[in-house]
Amino acid sequence: MDLPKGLAGVVIADTAISSTKNDMLTYAGYPITELIANNVPYEAVVFLLWHQRLPTNAELKNFRAALFAEMELAPDFLDTLKKISKIQRHPMSLLRTSVSFLGSTESKAESNATAIQAKMLMIVAMIVRLRAGKKPLKARRKLDFAGNFVYLLTGKVPSAAENDLFNKVLLLHADHEFNASTFTARVAASTNADEYSCLTAAICALKGPLHGGANEQVYLLLDGIRSSGQTVAEYLGSRLANHEKIMGFGHRIYKHGDPRAFYLHDYAKIMAQHYDQMALFNLAEAVAAYMWQTKQLKPNVDFYAAIIYHCLGVSHDIFTPIFAVSRTAGWLAHIREQKAASYLIRPSSHYTGVYDKKVPSELQLSDLTPRPFKQEGGAAL
Ligand SMILES: CC(C)(COP(=O)(O)OP(=O)(O)OC[C@H]1O[C@@H](n2cnc3c(N)ncnc32)[C@H](O)[C@@H]1OP(=O)(O)O)[C@@H](O)C(=O)NCCC(=O)NCCS
Repeated sequence: MDLPKGLAGVVIADTAISSTKNDMLTYAGYPITELIANNVPYEAVVFLLWHQRLPTNAELKNFRAALFAEMELAPDFLDTLKKISKIQRHPMSLLRTSVSFLGSTESKAESNATAIQAKMLMIVAMIVRLRAGKKPLKARRKLDFAGNFVYLLTGKVPSAAENDLFNKVLLLHADHEFNASTFTARVAASTNADEYSCLTAAICALKGPLHGGANEQVYLLLDGIRSSGQTVAEYLGSRLANHEKIMGFGHRIYKHGDPRAFYLHDYAKIMAQHYDQMALFNLAEAVAAYMWQTKQLKPNVDFYAAIIYHCLGVSHDIFTPIFAVSRTAGWLAHIREQKAASYLIRPSSHYTGVYDKKVPSELQLSDLTPRPFKQEGGAAL
């Protein structure tokens, strides 16, 4: 085969949405460092990804209001969600089914990206609340997207500082050029499938532990070390000796460190200090130090995000759904871009089997003796 395994390093299409060139994540020309330094709200980042320009103040106000107006679920849909939430499956599976179902209930001819973005948040929040046997909450007009996100998940209105920090976490997850889930969404979009089908496909790809599912696995790893009674070196050493991957480390693109993890490290520390979780944060630091010493691997976006979500009081199986809500912005931008480009993504494979096999005559695979089709009127086809 001529291409590298897993298409590593292969550029397969043009995009104006985001870039990871020079180990820096850039959204439509704005490096994340610039967006973070200017406290750009998540809503403005969504607008940026969809329009490749930042909104004016008036546009941001209108967009925020439009998102808020969509932060509710129709009673029929909610009834189904209540039934789905009783099924003891991973919340990512429930989210996948819910988004697919939302597409089936959509009556408008054209799906509305603003509505989808808002409803993704509502679905995840509803799953959390319903599974915990708690009353679903209504979004609050005074809160921005990040503030409503924290409120709807936890029932606590975040402090200004916490709201700001969570906004930055959402910003850092909003897009990431041709990662596995976005690529999956684009493949579906290239066939001209509807947005809900493309998003459902993206959620399936995000779910796996080598992609978005890694953040949950990071928490389980840290918890596993804590309860094992082993040292970090003993615990990780035996896993590495077994050729196991340690979740939250390594990256296909960033071989010198994930720029998002640089920020998330500091946010995780702030949250851990505030929520009395420094023991967990220090354990994570020890894991990171060991991984660097032994494998020269650095933490990726999922490593410190796990600590932040844990500090917020969210159960570990909701970590990946949080990622999905944030990444919906990027998925929708890429689906739109791919549809506008209007070509089918359909690569070829290198077949490693043999050709021209014959079915052995002694095999009795069918009870049917071959018969010619008869046309109406009797003539054989
Ligand atoms: C993200 C990931 C799939 C990128 O993989 P990649 O660029 O294809 O790199 P490879 O999987 O080929 O790994 C290259 C080498 O580093 C090792 N490696 C990479 N990530 C590792 C990890 N997290 N733990 C242990 N070893 C790792 C591989 O075993 C391989 O070693 P080898 O050359 O001795 O076989 C990989 O780093 C990984 O599986 N990480 C854990 C899952 C994760 O955190 N995913 C979220 C990504 S944002």
